[in-house]
Amino acid sequence: MSSSFQAPKGVSEYVPPRADLLYAVREAFAEQARLAGYGYLELAVFEDTNLFRRGVGESTDVVSKEMYTFEDRGGRSLTLRPEFTASVLRCVLEHGLHKQGALPVKVWTTGAAFRAERPQQGRYRQFYQLDLEAIGSEDPRVDAETIAIAANWYRSLGLTRVRLLLNSLGCRECRPAYRARLQEFLRGLDLDEATRARIEINPLRVLDDKRPQVREQLAGAPLMADHLCAACKAHHDAVRELLADLGIEWEDTPTLVRGLDYYTRTTYEFDHPLLGAQSGIGGGGRYDGLSEDIGGPPLPGIGFGLGLDRTILALEAEGAEFAARPRCEAFGVPLGDAAERRMFGLVAELRRSGIAADAAFGGKRLKGAMKDADRSGARYAVILGERDIADGVAQVKDLAAGEQTAVPLADIVTTLKERLEK
Ligand code: HAM
Repeated sequence: MSSSFQAPKGVSEYVPPRADLLYAVREAFAEQARLAGYGYLELAVFEDTNLFRRGVGESTDVVSKEMYTFEDRGGRSLTLRPEFTASVLRCVLEHGLHKQGALPVKVWTTGAAFRAERPQQGRYRQFYQLDLEAIGSEDPRVDAETIAIAANWYRSLGLTRVRLLLNSLGCRECRPAYRARLQEFLRGLDLDEATRARIEINPLRVLDDKRPQVREQLAGAPLMADHLCAACKAHHDAVRELLADLGIEWEDTPTLVRGLDYYTRTTYEFDHPLLGAQSGIGGGGRYDGLSEDIGGPPLPGIGFGLGLDRTILALEAEGAEFAARPRCEAFGVPLGDAAERRMFGLVAELRRSGIAADAAFGGKRLKGAMKDADRSGARYAVILGERDIADGVAQVKDLAAGEQTAVPLADIVTTLKERLEK
């Protein structure tokens, strides 16, 4: 029987073996970040609510409808982070990282984020992201570098069907005129009241409407790509050339807009065709005005957030080979008191030598202990009876092949090491 409690609705929890997979997927990302010179940050899980109001933007669904906001005992308004970028920038500015070394400041972090959304497959209220940011440079090579890190990571996981959708959202110079033009176009369409209201608050979001009757009318909408200023156009062209140089494929997607307000210039999404409605497995872009929005100095930045939950779903949907390292490679089966004692030391020795090892607990008999060995997923069982101790050996059994050989106790570690490396 389970307890009277369940995790709150919409919380994405992981238990083994899926949680081991999630952890390995994270480790694979940590390696990509390290190879590209990004340092690790451990951040506040909750922040001053105004950081997200000003950073992510009042007109976004994330801020207006989805934040977990509460008052602490001192009457301060705090919010569980709905994303990482505003927190990363707050942290970089607070610790003066932008003054300490070469720019851009390159950092990454990971953990849970919280959005009060309607839960469904791939959409949770507590979910997990990998977030990477490069802060303090406008160089288009930084844009391409961040995209390459994500692409390399997907490839390292064995995912082959990830698509990169790319766009430019212009800058504070060219976007206002485009926005006005788009509003004018949208006001002439036959739209429901909620959508008409959106035209006034966040017209770019209307371009993202998935309903067929809206899509049809959007066919002739003006696109940001055709209204970029010369500097934004040059930047966008440079990013695309660099991606081509790196052999990274993308799809130009002039209708791509993102759900957060801070984006400028390069914006992109990673999409997975097998995930249905929640196909966005990652997304990112530039946010050249965000630092000023939260009271900091001018400091351009770019980065991405990759959804760990959806990446796991994508791995499962593709049947990708990527797997966590085994939790148990050798499993001890001690028979009798003296053997239990000896096995306890042997398991410790195996672990010290880097072999994942475990053993049956609680004085189990052969049959029960062998069942534990099978369940552990180990490749080998190490069986030790009283007779074996007297002979100075243990029986090493290959659990898949069923073959068993007697190995001198002194040679168990080296023998298993050799066999496991094969
Ligand atoms: P975002 O597109 O809101 O961007 O989220 C990034 C990724 O997190 C999405 O592509 C998706 O995979 C995952 N995600 C978002 N919401 C949920 C949810 N409710 N359940 C499961 N997964 C979800 C950002 O958060 C930006 N901070 C990314 C960024 C970093 N831009 C620049 N730097």
